Amino acid sequence: MVAHALPVSLSGYARAAADRLDVEALAYFDGGAGDEISRAANGRAWQVPTLVPRILRRLADGSTRCPLLGRTLAHPILLAPVAYQRLAHPDGELAAACAASAQGAGLVLSTQASVPLEAVSAAIADDPDRGPLWFQLYLQHDERFNRALVRRVEAAGYEAIVVTVDAPCSGVRDRERAAGFELPHGVSAVNLADLPPRRAAPPGLCNGLVQNAPTWEDIARLVRATRLPLLLKGVLHPDDARQAHAIGVAGIIVSNHGGRVLDTAIPTAHALPAVADAVGGKMAVLVDGGIRRGTDIVKALALGADAVLIGRPLVHGLAVAGAHGVAHVIRLLRDELEIAMALCGCATIADIDASLLGPAQPSHSQPP
Ligand code: FNR
Ligand code: LAC
Repeated sequence: MVAHALPVSLSGYARAAADRLDVEALAYFDGGAGDEISRAANGRAWQVPTLVPRILRRLADGSTRCPLLGRTLAHPILLAPVAYQRLAHPDGELAAACAASAQGAGLVLSTQASVPLEAVSAAIADDPDRGPLWFQLYLQHDERFNRALVRRVEAAGYEAIVVTVDAPCSGVRDRERAAGFELPHGVSAVNLADLPPRRAAPPGLCNGLVQNAPTWEDIARLVRATRLPLLLKGVLHPDDARQAHAIGVAGIIVSNHGGRVLDTAIPTAHALPAVADAVGGKMAVLVDGGIRRGTDIVKALALGADAVLIGRPLVHGLAVAGAHGVAHVIRLLRDELEIAMALCGCATIADIDASLLGPAQPSHSQPP
């Protein structure tokens, strides 16, 4: 029997990464907020719905190609914005970008990336087969800095801006604090290096930290201030999705930040249907949180998503084998998606719909 040199599934990557990362980095990457209820519930919520496959349909000439914000993608998988990737591998975000590009996956670069945003776009800009390149924006307390950052993002060739709106402050990160996590020397948010220090805040919620937290007015202003399409990341309520659509936002990402901000926030698989009902077809709807299998992706699309993002699995790929590991993680998911589609009788992404999902299972109380 030939042993596989690399893990064969995303959960295998998670285990292999846990053996390689030091305790502090592992607490940062894999941890969630509070009791990590949402973090765990995200993954479980994709496992619960059942699939009712169709038989004998024609599968010839099928593909995973799908439309998203005016482009045709090779498949509906993007890498989520994840901060400080050089903690997992010296090449950090550059390795993740090259892997995404090689696999035709979209990439969303974090504001808190540990590599300059221009270096990331330069590394993959000329690849004709790469997926979309988006920038995730955390609006900062300094308006001038925000404007300059948006200009840099536009000039570097990013194709959309993803404003993360679910983290006006950090969550309660017990695992990180217990591990004593601090950024090591040499890893920092290099794209924020010129940010002027915050002035002493007046007293208020979270010691005044949320004084400058973005509002709907800031988003409406940003829509007007950039030529790039804007997406909001961290939408869980259908009314927020409707409001985003009303002010000209191009897409939303249904996300609870991988369970890292508000613990016990609704799992994204449960939030997605109502949000997709409210705005699906009118704006792009993406989802992340606990997506680990091709069948999870089929269910996300059946529940109304146009595409999905993966966060921690990209870190696990990086930690295990750098760019090669991230590319392999994406490849595994792509292969699983194709197998799941074929076994469900879906030749194309457009064939995936809610009729594939089984009736909701009655919840049984656990025997004592
Ligand atoms: C994140 N996430 C995140 N989101 C964001 O908008 N900006 C960021 O800088 C970060 N940073 C970050 C760091 C780490 C270590 C993790 C695990 C996550 C959230 C991320 O984009 C995504 O929403 C979740 O990771 C999705 O859940 P899974 O796939 O990790 O379960
Ligand atoms: C996090 C921030 C950076 O989740 O979004 O760690």
